[in-house]
Amino acid sequence: MDEHGRVVASGTQVHAPFASAQPGWAEQDPRDWWRACRLAVRRALDALGTSAEEIACAGFSGQMHGAVLLDARDEVVRPAIIWCDQRTEPQVQELSDLFGADRLIRLTCNPPLTNFTLTKLLWVRENEPRNWERVAHVMLPKDYVRFQLTGERAIDMADASGTLLLDVAKRQWSSEVLSRTGIDPQLLPSLYESPAVCGRVSARGAEAAGLKPGTLVVAGAGDQAAGAVGMGIVRPGTVSATIGTSGVVFAATEGPALDLKGRIHTFCHAIPGRWHVMGVTQAAGLSLRWFRDRFGAGLAAPNDERDPYERLCEEASAAPPASDGVFWAPYLMGERTPHCDPNARAALLGLSAIHTRAHVIRAILEGVAFSLRDSFTIFREMKLPVDRIRLGGGGARSSLWRQIQADVYGHAVEVVQAEEGAAYGAAILAGTGAGNWRSVDEACDAVVRTAREIQPDPKNSAVLDQAYRTYRRIYPALQAISNPGSTEPAAQPAAISVPDSIC
Ligand code: XUL
Repeated sequence: MDEHGRVVASGTQVHAPFASAQPGWAEQDPRDWWRACRLAVRRALDALGTSAEEIACAGFSGQMHGAVLLDARDEVVRPAIIWCDQRTEPQVQELSDLFGADRLIRLTCNPPLTNFTLTKLLWVRENEPRNWERVAHVMLPKDYVRFQLTGERAIDMADASGTLLLDVAKRQWSSEVLSRTGIDPQLLPSLYESPAVCGRVSARGAEAAGLKPGTLVVAGAGDQAAGAVGMGIVRPGTVSATIGTSGVVFAATEGPALDLKGRIHTFCHAIPGRWHVMGVTQAAGLSLRWFRDRFGAGLAAPNDERDPYERLCEEASAAPPASDGVFWAPYLMGERTPHCDPNARAALLGLSAIHTRAHVIRAILEGVAFSLRDSFTIFREMKLPVDRIRLGGGGARSSLWRQIQADVYGHAVEVVQAEEGAAYGAAILAGTGAGNWRSVDEACDAVVRTAREIQPDPKNSAVLDQAYRTYRRIYPALQAISNPGSTEPAAQPAAISVPDSIC
């Protein structure tokens, strides 16, 4: 990104998908992220065509919550247990028993959830004691990449919020959570605000990635907070709905705002002195990827070089709004918002012999949008203002998915000019750290521009509103099937009483 916020070069390199040895497990090799990052940076530098000397500062973003474990020689101890892994239900229960949900939410602003890093550390300690004995350093995915590039062990407040080890209200590691769970604070990286400079590219990192030694780096942020910065979601009122692998509805707040049922996360924003809330759908883009990987993207005409997702969305457009009664409940990896249920399972329902692939694909697009609408429903309960909705991620690239979102949310939606999302936000944070802008707010005001606005179609919106009401009845019905002993729908998470001071 140049000093005017224009993207002047970019490079990408895929890394391996996650491995899942058992249902609900998800692991990746951190070394593969560093391999892909090195190649991507070199590609961006080749595309830039000028010297790496011109780069003032580098930013970072990446998937949140994953536990990267290094030994005393900085070797990876075991594959990272990543954000969507659901194996840690027993550890969630242990944390609830140890603290009581109220106390933990007072300390960290969040209830224990399988996704959060602390539960993964406890799982390794209990199930792989030999591996745990070797652990000398714990870090999150993008922070491992930073460590390779700079030798610094650093983390930003936003990503640290998703560990369950941070006192989110005070923006410091929680000494009580650390001491009561027996996690040595020496294992953790140093905390920084996202736009703060936290190191420089080392000679070794420079050689590996092609950057200039001594280049400044800022702390950056996890994918959701950085993506929000990239879309200008910095003050209350403008809210984003991002469909990447996960799906997230994100709002900036002036203080830590809590959902008393613990259905959404309350984290530090990538902006000093500001917080955010977000509701998370575990398998948003992942639902469509799952369909593509298992059932194919359809037959392409000989010279059709379109992206497979574009072909799938075009196929889906042959089916009408509400997919003639087909529904997709997107719980492929359990669910966070609103059910907080790691054991939830996905379902495709309402099929009859008339239905086609088009209906099924459209139902997937709609089911994901319904799931994100659940977060808007909670935001409304919490009286969080939603004046404008900006779409991000792959879900913002498809015209059909954009229109489905406008219709399901019953609200105009916007798309911003910069499509790079979290990478763009990371570059804004780097530009701010390098002194090009005085603050993240100033940077966003200067560079984030709306590219287009999509209005809901009143007729389709009414049809989808009715369908959403049916969708809301699917999860309790699925519960009755997965817990056959119980004829009662699953209870909603219990309300947690929290003092006003942190609400
Ligand atoms: C957010 C979350 C995801 C992952 C992967 O809480 O888990 O955004 O970071 O995208």
